[in-house]
Amino acid sequence: MRISNEYLPYPIKIISVREETHDTKTFRVSFIDEDLKNSFNYKQGQFVQVSVLGVGEAPISISSSPGERGFFELTVRKSGHLTTALHRLKQDDVFYVRGPYGNSFPFEELFGRSLVFVSGGIGLAPIRGMIRLVLENRERFKDVKILYGAKTPDDICFKDELAEWEKRDDISVYVTVDRGDDKWKGRVGLVTSLYDDAVGVDGGGSVAIVCGPPVMMKFAAIGLVKRGFKKDDVILTLERYMKCGIGKCGHCNIGGLYVCVDGPVFSWGRIEKFPEIEHVF
Ligand SMILES: Cc1cc2nc3c(=O)[nH]c(=O)nc-3n(C[C@H](O)[C@H](O)[C@H](O)COP(=O)(O)OP(=O)(O)OC[C@H]3O[C@@H](n4cnc5c(N)ncnc54)[C@H](O)[C@@H]3O)c2cc1C
Ligand code: FES
Repeated sequence: MRISNEYLPYPIKIISVREETHDTKTFRVSFIDEDLKNSFNYKQGQFVQVSVLGVGEAPISISSSPGERGFFELTVRKSGHLTTALHRLKQDDVFYVRGPYGNSFPFEELFGRSLVFVSGGIGLAPIRGMIRLVLENRERFKDVKILYGAKTPDDICFKDELAEWEKRDDISVYVTVDRGDDKWKGRVGLVTSLYDDAVGVDGGGSVAIVCGPPVMMKFAAIGLVKRGFKKDDVILTLERYMKCGIGKCGHCNIGGLYVCVDGPVFSWGRIEKFPEIEHVF
């Protein structure tokens, strides 16, 4: 079920808080209303508008899989007013959400294809739900590769989960950092430096799902296309400043589209020529 009044925020309670990095936390939350708790549906890649009373509102992606019921997860980087207020909250505290909003990553349409997930920093959060959904349905896909890059080892989100994924023999996981430290024994370099090992040259049959800072996404997409990915098979999720989240205010306009309703998921083929994308360096 979708929340009936799309402007109306509903209270949710924090079940648990997990510290991902020095500035990022994952909140496992659940609606206080029992009916909403059991019937809340969302799709992989959608977001909710999160609010704290007296502070404000911001869009946050749902980072859990739609297959998980009774709760959902939000992974939040402390970056401003609302996210700082959220970071102060603890187990059993209450805040508000409305949604879910936006389109979603394709899923059934990708059955039988090989998938490459490419993400940077907190960009793993918006695609984590899709990764978890794919892993819950692993037999429906060919090769699954996860490429992840963070600035430093301390900035790696979902460390435990990445370590669990690395242990699986039915997927390949590649993690890199821009700058290592004394303890880091892994790869060093931008996430695109993983392409030689992880992606090679694709025959045009794989689908890539990409999320990260704008510059990373742009060069990640260009690199994939150079390696044989079709532009419409490179799928990105965008962030823009939002107010209403439902296509009314125009704040999230990009190339004549509204990220909140036409996106946040777009193919590279659809957005590469938008001036907002061309001018990202
Ligand atoms: C679809 C979508 C999904 C998202 N998912 C997540 C998620 O899963 N996790 C997450 O942590 N974040 C996510 N974000 C980003 C998050 O919504 C923003 O970072 C939001 O601004 C945080 O709100 P805030 O009140 O904490 O920060 P703000 O007070 O809005 O400030 C955040 C930063 O932006 C700057 N800023 C504020 N307003 C403007 C403006 N008008 N123009 C330029 N700069 C400005 C501030 O100076 C500050 O550096 C998502 C955004 C979108 C659109
Ligand atoms: S946020 Fe208002 S139109 Fe998209």
